[in-house]
Amino acid sequence: MNVTVVDDDMFATTAAAALLERLPSAAPTLGVATGGTPMRVYAELASRSRHGELDLSGATVLALDEYVGLDERDPRSYTAYVRSRVADPLGIPVANVHVPQGNGADPAAVAQAFEQRIAETGGVDVQIAGIGSNGHLAFNEPGSPLDSTTRVVDLSDQTRHDNARFFGGRVDDVPRRAITQGLATIGRARCILLLAAGRAKADALAAALRGPVDASVPASVLQQHSDVTVIADRAAWSRMA
Ligand code: PGA
Repeated sequence: MNVTVVDDDMFATTAAAALLERLPSAAPTLGVATGGTPMRVYAELASRSRHGELDLSGATVLALDEYVGLDERDPRSYTAYVRSRVADPLGIPVANVHVPQGNGADPAAVAQAFEQRIAETGGVDVQIAGIGSNGHLAFNEPGSPLDSTTRVVDLSDQTRHDNARFFGGRVDDVPRRAITQGLATIGRARCILLLAAGRAKADALAAALRGPVDASVPASVLQQHSDVTVIADRAAWSRMA
C-alpha cells in the first residue's frame, strides 16, 4: 500500500497526480466515488482539462453507487453528480458514463445488470474511493460481506446523518436504500485510490488500514488488494501517525 499524507491545500493536486499516473492513456476506465472528498479532485481535473493540459474525453466512467428512488435529473442523485462534476467538465459522452439507475422499477435487477456492465467494460483501471466515518466503502455498510457484489442495501443511520448535508440538512430526506457495488466488485478494480480528509475519518481510516480485515469495517477489505494508494490529509491520518 502506498501512502501519501499531505497538507490540506495539496490534497487535490496530489490526488489528481496519483490518479493520472496510474490511469492508462488510451481509453481508460475510471471508477468514481461521489462524496464530498473527491469533489476538489474532480475540480482539479476539470481545470486541467479546461486549460488543455488533460484529455480524458475517451474515458469510460463507472460510479460506485446510487440512491434508490432518486431520478437521474434530481441534482442530489449520483447520476447528476457524475455528469456535472466529472463527465461534462471532462468532455466524456453520456453514453460512456455508467451509474446504476436509482428509480428503476426493480432495483435488484438494476444492481445485477450493473455488475454485468462493469464486467463488460473490461473492468475498472483506477477506482477512486472514499471512506465513511463508520468505515463503509461505497455504500457497503458495516456488516457487508467481504465477497459481496452489486446489490441493494439499507443505509445506516450514521451514513444518512453524514449525507444529510447534501439534502438541505434534512436526514429524513436522505433515501433509506441504495444500489452499491459490492466489496468483491470494488476489489476487482486494478488499482484503488483511497481518499480521506478530515478528522471525522481518522478512526475509520486507522481501523481500515491497521485493524483486522473484517466485515465490521468494510474498507478493511482494501488490505487484501495488491495495488492501493492512500492520499490522506494530516487530520485523517492523525490516528495512524
Ligand atoms: P465523503 O464520503 O467524501 O462525503 O466524506 C465518503 C464516503 O462516505 O465514502
